Amino acid sequence: MTSESFVHKTVLLGATVNALVHDEFNVKAKWIHDLLPPGNKEGVFVDGTFGRGGHSRYLLSQLSANARLFVFDKDPLAMASARQLQQEDSRVEIIHGGFSSMEEELHQRGIGQVQGILLDLGISSPQIDDASRGFSFMREGPLDMRMDTSRGITAAEWLAQASIEEMKEVIKNYGEERFAFPIAKAIDHRRQSSPLCTTLELAELVSTVVRTREKGQHPATRTFQAIRIHINQELEELANTLASILRLLAPGGRMSVISFHSLEDRMVKQCIAAAAKPGASLARLPLRESEMPQPVLVNMGKVLATDAEVAANPRSRSAVLRVAQRTTTELTDADAFVSRPLMLGGQSGKRRASWRA
Ligand SMILES: C[S@@+](CC[C@H](N)C(=O)[O-])C[C@H]1O[C@@H](n2cnc3c(N)ncnc32)[C@H](O)[C@@H]1O
Repeated sequence: MTSESFVHKTVLLGATVNALVHDEFNVKAKWIHDLLPPGNKEGVFVDGTFGRGGHSRYLLSQLSANARLFVFDKDPLAMASARQLQQEDSRVEIIHGGFSSMEEELHQRGIGQVQGILLDLGISSPQIDDASRGFSFMREGPLDMRMDTSRGITAAEWLAQASIEEMKEVIKNYGEERFAFPIAKAIDHRRQSSPLCTTLELAELVSTVVRTREKGQHPATRTFQAIRIHINQELEELANTLASILRLLAPGGRMSVISFHSLEDRMVKQCIAAAAKPGASLARLPLRESEMPQPVLVNMGKVLATDAEVAANPRSRSAVLRVAQRTTTELTDADAFVSRPLMLGGQSGKRRASWRA
């Protein structure tokens, strides 16, 4: 099977794009999930997670002939798919790399502000379904797990060199796994006799330690999620990008962000809440209305997949779309609105994750 045999069913397609381009978007309206007739929205837009271009294609159908769409992805195969789209549609501009570079990349191209940015976080179905990528605990393949296969260390390389403490912290914090320490110890014990090289080797080893299986969940689910997040620096990328999005959005510009697990969703939710109510922490101080900091975002709410979508695409079950709109308030410090995981440096490469509100 070639990589192009794997397809991606785009999650929350209508709502994610309609939120960016339709002025009257409202999370309570039923029509938001519909695919609407072609539109004529002007401006510059960004799809930070091109994947196989499901959102990008529909977004392009809603944009004017003069609009521009910058697409990013770390994955070389996603970029190959983007190049095909670019041949059909010259409004598309492709940037291979992490979406955290969007501000710099857009500035280099003379773009200071944009009208809409979408992120559909995590990995795509082709990445999970292609055993050779190493993301799936169900399919035997090399323990790779890199979205960008052209750089960085693989999961197998990391598991061979990380300390027990580092593995424990990653599995505990990024997988929210109760058995993080016994898993880390089991990995360490195992690698002393032979290295962990494949997905099923890791999945089976974790299964021997995680004895309480959550309903409908493989015992290695949380461990695989944690290692993937760590290898791809997913939370650091998201934190940096949320700050960039606040700076990049033009007044009235919108962001649509889909998350698939609580760590990501918490970051997006907290960022939007802080930017929409910057005075919340000052509420007890005797300040006049005119002295209160003004919102830089309007929180437009969250959208979940409909029952019909979940039935057709079970991966949409855990998806949460959050939408916000930039106000006209000048932004002085975007980072102040972002909660980020702190990877505290220590000796001998030890790192510890924690949260700063
Ligand atoms: C859920 S898929 C997106 C699917 C896409 N919306 C579609 O309809 O085809 C997520 C994609 O984002 C990419 N990705 C995840 N994190 C990224 C990051 N920090 N920078 C760039 N691309 C990233 C992954 O490689 C993957 O292709």
